[in-house]
Amino acid sequence: MEQTREHWSGRLGFTLAAVGSAVGLGNMWRFSYMAAENGGAAFVMLYVVMTLLVGLPVMLAELTLGRGSGKSPIQALVHYGGNAWKPLGALFVMAGVVILAYYSVIAGWTVRYTVDAALTGFPTEAGDRFGAIASGIPALCWHLVFMAVTIVVVSGGIRAGIERAALILMPVLGFLVIALAIYAATLEGSGAGYAYYFQTDFAAIWQTDVLRDAAGQAFFSLSLGMGAILTYASYLDRNTDLPAESVTIAISDFGVAFLAGMVVFPLIFALGLQEDVGASTLGALFITLPKAFASMGPAGNWIGIAFFVALVVGGLTSAISLLEVVVSSAIDATGTSRGKAAWICGGLIALLGVPSALSLDVLGLMDQIGGNLFLIFGGLLLSVFVGWVMPDAMDEASEGSRFGGLLFGWKTLLRFVVPVILAAVLWFSLLDTAEMVQGLIAG
Ligand code: PHE
Repeated sequence: MEQTREHWSGRLGFTLAAVGSAVGLGNMWRFSYMAAENGGAAFVMLYVVMTLLVGLPVMLAELTLGRGSGKSPIQALVHYGGNAWKPLGALFVMAGVVILAYYSVIAGWTVRYTVDAALTGFPTEAGDRFGAIASGIPALCWHLVFMAVTIVVVSGGIRAGIERAALILMPVLGFLVIALAIYAATLEGSGAGYAYYFQTDFAAIWQTDVLRDAAGQAFFSLSLGMGAILTYASYLDRNTDLPAESVTIAISDFGVAFLAGMVVFPLIFALGLQEDVGASTLGALFITLPKAFASMGPAGNWIGIAFFVALVVGGLTSAISLLEVVVSSAIDATGTSRGKAAWICGGLIALLGVPSALSLDVLGLMDQIGGNLFLIFGGLLLSVFVGWVMPDAMDEASEGSRFGGLLFGWKTLLRFVVPVILAAVLWFSLLDTAEMVQGLIAG
């Protein structure tokens, strides 16, 4: 039965919402520690290559599948490929569930940091504070608060909820990140930070774990491989220029990640905290930066609040897109109302997040499995689907586009190049995950 489906009010609404999905904690928290861990500029370059070679084709594939079918992920795959493809749709929804469960815990930290900073300032003993906040009851409470806000926005629907949030929040985020990068440049001693960020350890390019991390990060950061972009595209009008949209989203996403590095590294080096960066744990950003803010006096407090507000905003618009995948699938499958679907799905996801709120090890493992393995595997199968199975992918991708003529290499990439690269990345990620699980078991 054909139901009337809500649509974005216009191009800007969609673009901002999709950029909002892409730009998130991944750009600021995950990107900077991965760059620090993996040879600075070499990582950034590999990341760009992966975005162009793998990210953009898959982004266009998701947009094509979403707009073409006008359905949520599972039904979109069934629409073009039959029931055999249902499990892939289910994997997408699962990925959304797992990622949102722990993502919301980290986003909860950012809310807590913002509130604390506004009330009492940043502590010099940031490591202890992180230890006290990051897992346990405080983490759990802020996780639940963050989930509740996400649910409220998603239950508002496409225009009144998701689009409105993006229209208000994304300009704030853009402004904050640019202002922070400019401020960081004025700090004495920031040069050492840039030097560190742009150090070129070219040997790193040939290491498989750097390649793996760059590809994984590109997927995570662009919100690919789990149907988030697909779902947003299912609310698009037929005259949208999909290739142009995919480039806009990718450039904005890279821009914010790159700028975040231009904030994080100069700040850390200007304040002489580089020792901390080496210990690149999940929490590096949550410990080192607050220390920097604490040692900057009153100005540091404002800068710090601006930074964490940007994180909260980015986290929220991404979490919204994660929940929308699950909620739209639930609505399409059962026909329940949006409000009910949002509260029930959101509630269950919040519950699933409890273990990661209580243990950083669990959180790390969920990030590895949901944020890495699921996305790479999902992206691999998705590229095969759109490259080989979907009947009129090329026509659908170029409809409404000024750049249709430029798409000749797209299908070849999806058919041959993307699957091979992603299969290799998946293999290395599996090895890495096995190592991680062994480490956890060994204690
Ligand atoms: N892209 C988001 C970020 O960088 C995370 C995300 C992943 C959102 C997958 C949706 C889907 O934070």
